[in-house]
Amino acid sequence: MSCEIKIAPSILAADAARLAEEVKKVEEAGAEWLHIDIMDGHFVPNLSYSAQVVSALRPLSKLFFDVHLMISEPVKYMDDFADAGADIITVHKEACSDAELKEIAAHLHGRGVKAGISVKPNTPAESLEPLLDDFDMILIMTVEPGFGGQSYIHEMDSKIAWAARAAENHPGLIVEVDGGVGEKTAAEAAASGAKVLVAGSAVFGAEDAEAAVRSLRRIAESACCAEEKQQ
Ligand code: DX5
Ligand code: ZN
Repeated sequence: MSCEIKIAPSILAADAARLAEEVKKVEEAGAEWLHIDIMDGHFVPNLSYSAQVVSALRPLSKLFFDVHLMISEPVKYMDDFADAGADIITVHKEACSDAELKEIAAHLHGRGVKAGISVKPNTPAESLEPLLDDFDMILIMTVEPGFGGQSYIHEMDSKIAWAARAAENHPGLIVEVDGGVGEKTAAEAAASGAKVLVAGSAVFGAEDAEAAVRSLRRIAESACCAEEKQQ
């Protein structure tokens, strides 16, 4: 097992008036992914960016665009985000039926886009079992979706661990964690089995983004390695 950790800064915490520069900043800081939170004011009580913003940023960056759809009707909008240049599109388990979710994953794959599935804190990870063959990534929410800057919910560690065990039986399945990840919580997320860490405030709120990305990665990779040695 590899302990390579990827950092996905969330542009929800970026300066919205200077998005292009902010994306360039985190790319130069060494992040591999860019987490793009999309909210519809219905699935979550907040609004954020549209596909137009994703499309405008796409030519400016080589980062892996990780689009997190916190919206009630992903079927209606997924093609807009695929057209905009998303590399992976994550939808919520709570937004649709399993049959619809399977169709979404197949549709995205047909378009050459990876598909992720996410669970809110109150949704059991086990509910993802029937979908594991369909999706490329599990995104465990460690806060209630809707806002940046919240505190990491420690009880989610067992869900991350469940996803990591699922990944052992589904080679290639990525485990991502989103919400409240910073220097104090990166170690437990990684020790539980997360391989991609979303970090909004911890990266965009830092004075030195490069130092923040480096430090999160170092903390997470050593926690992952220490955990593997114990096993
Ligand atoms: C919350 C979003 C997160 C958020 C993370 O609904 O899905 O991606 O931006 O922000 P931090 O890292 O500040 O908790
Ligand atoms: Zn997110």
